[in-house]
Amino acid sequence: MTHRNSLPQGIEPNMISFSLGHPDRTSFPFADLETATMAAFKSQALAMFEYGPQQGEKRLITRIVDHLNRAEDLNLKYENLMILSGSTHGVDMVCRLFVGAGGGILLEAPTYKDTIHIFRDHGSKLHPVPMDEKGIILEAMTDIVERLSSEGNSPKLFYTIPNFQNPTGRTTTKDRREEILDLARRYDFIVLEDDVYRDIAFEGDLPPSYFALADGHGVLRIGSFSKTLAPGLRLGWLIGEPEVIDTCMNCGTTQMGGGANPFVSSILAQYLGSDKWEKNISRLRENYRNRRDIALSALERFMPTGVHWTVPSGGIFLWLTLPPSVSVYELQAASRPKGVVFSAGPGFYVDPDDGKFNLRLAYSFVAPDELEEGIRLLAETVEELSR
Ligand SMILES: Cc1ncc(COP(=O)(O)O)c(C=O)c1O
Repeated sequence: MTHRNSLPQGIEPNMISFSLGHPDRTSFPFADLETATMAAFKSQALAMFEYGPQQGEKRLITRIVDHLNRAEDLNLKYENLMILSGSTHGVDMVCRLFVGAGGGILLEAPTYKDTIHIFRDHGSKLHPVPMDEKGIILEAMTDIVERLSSEGNSPKLFYTIPNFQNPTGRTTTKDRREEILDLARRYDFIVLEDDVYRDIAFEGDLPPSYFALADGHGVLRIGSFSKTLAPGLRLGWLIGEPEVIDTCMNCGTTQMGGGANPFVSSILAQYLGSDKWEKNISRLRENYRNRRDIALSALERFMPTGVHWTVPSGGIFLWLTLPPSVSVYELQAASRPKGVVFSAGPGFYVDPDDGKFNLRLAYSFVAPDELEEGIRLLAETVEELSR
């Protein structure tokens, strides 16, 4: 099938590409979604072609709520969830409605580069906070928040990727989440958790979400089908207290365009009526765990001393720190002719002077038989540059 051979946007041909956090395209459930599409067409074709209810397709909301309540032992109600055109839509909408132009946003340093872009589009003032292996450093965050509030510029929002963070692969500990929630309550800022990687857990229990820990108060959470099914579906969800969901349902864009993507929502409501999504998630966990293990053992085997990396317990990213003698830009320039590309650290920081000795490796899109060779070539290049 030719459509399976074309490359997704941003992926270069004949390269081992650690650059983009794209899902493994061999995991897309073509046949199951084809069956669901035909069934949705038969049973609700008219609704698929109309503007949809502002909150989103009703059966889909119910199915996602059931899935989350089952998986995390939550007590979400129908009124807590709204369908979105992906997590990206949620970040944009929350920033627009709850921060406003020029409002202050706290964010992890480093963080997902495209959200920095969205916040900049809104004219937000960005306040990066450094991280350690347990998540954002609370003392640093407290200092920033105290300073901002004494200047009369209290931040409105903290944007976080709590599980298997993009780009570091780190998961914020439960204690850290609770401390951050305390600070948020004291200084009255919203916590926005972008939890698109939660389902891709390899081992151990994940801490409860900020939403669960706060019983919903002051927290918004976004999820997506992009990482556990396919990004081309452009479908995700927002979880919040009913008044917050109400504000989002009543905003201009939702009023004008109706609920997100009724066409694909009807197909997914059909698909989620079986246990196929859960089975797909289990297969993905195995798939990405295998890739993570191959990548970690290749790093152990080939990387020279002085290079360090995170060990994620889920998700699709590894974060490397180079020795001070090797800048990431030099590494990028020298590894490209060898056929290896990756994302350089500075793109994940608000200040592009940060992250010059860091790189992100996404292992989800690199075939298992190329992972080892890609890392061997990178390691060889680091050695050459260190001489
Ligand atoms: C943290 C994070 N949020 C959101 C997205 C994009 O999600 P969506 O496709 O649902 O808009 C990504 C994709 O890489 C991501 O890493």
